[in-house]
Amino acid sequence: MIATQESGTRRLYARTASAADRGAWSVERDIAWYAVDRRRAFERPEILASLRDAALIESYHPVNLARLLKATWDDVDASVVFSLELYEGFKHFHALRWYLDVIRYDPPITDAELIELRRGQENVEVGEEDLIERLVDFMLSEHLAHYFFRRLGEQATEPVLADLLSKISADEVRHAQSASDLIAKRIEADRSVVPRVLEAASHFHHFGEQAIGTVPVAQPGDPIAIQTFAHRIERLCGVRLVDHIKSGL
Ligand SMILES: [Fe+2]
Ligand SMILES: [Fe+2]
Repeated sequence: MIATQESGTRRLYARTASAADRGAWSVERDIAWYAVDRRRAFERPEILASLRDAALIESYHPVNLARLLKATWDDVDASVVFSLELYEGFKHFHALRWYLDVIRYDPPITDAELIELRRGQENVEVGEEDLIERLVDFMLSEHLAHYFFRRLGEQATEPVLADLLSKISADEVRHAQSASDLIAKRIEADRSVVPRVLEAASHFHHFGEQAIGTVPVAQPGDPIAIQTFAHRIERLCGVRLVDHIKSGL
């Protein structure tokens, strides 16, 4: 049975779950771990360093998403979107760490390091007063994650890594879209949240900043990532982000 809303349109969570199903891939079966070429991987040490940062950021999802899940307990669609994000974010972390372990990257990621990143964050909450802002941060973080993994995949000369990064990058674009759908639903219910969305976008913080301080966002000044970032906001709000920034509101 297809889950439908009262109006007869397909539920947001059902669309999200279908898209996840169509895009699903297995860390165990779909990555050619046996074929990883260690020598080629080390031809680009800067890619490997970025990969390590990305694995740390992916490991941080349980902290960020636990807050969002709690703050959106009364939104069934949001519960599903964040649950799937938790699972797929875990897959990204698992696959990236596995890759670094396979090539014996030094320093290896340790569980103690992952726990250290989370320390001090356990009591931070998201409330009604900043929920829209945190949803916007989440959507734009996913959007930039897509470009980050895509660019890294384009630069990677080791074929297994290039393949893994293209799979992760395709997941991230879905994640950004799901987050956008959640925000669109809130705008539809109450247009007064539009200025908050615009304001949050102009003061955007990547959630990875909490985890590792700085964030490897696409390529520095990746113009397409930035342009499409603005387009996402404009589609949601019906207002150009640049006009909002100029207006100084
Ligand atoms: Fe991810
Ligand atoms: Fe994601």
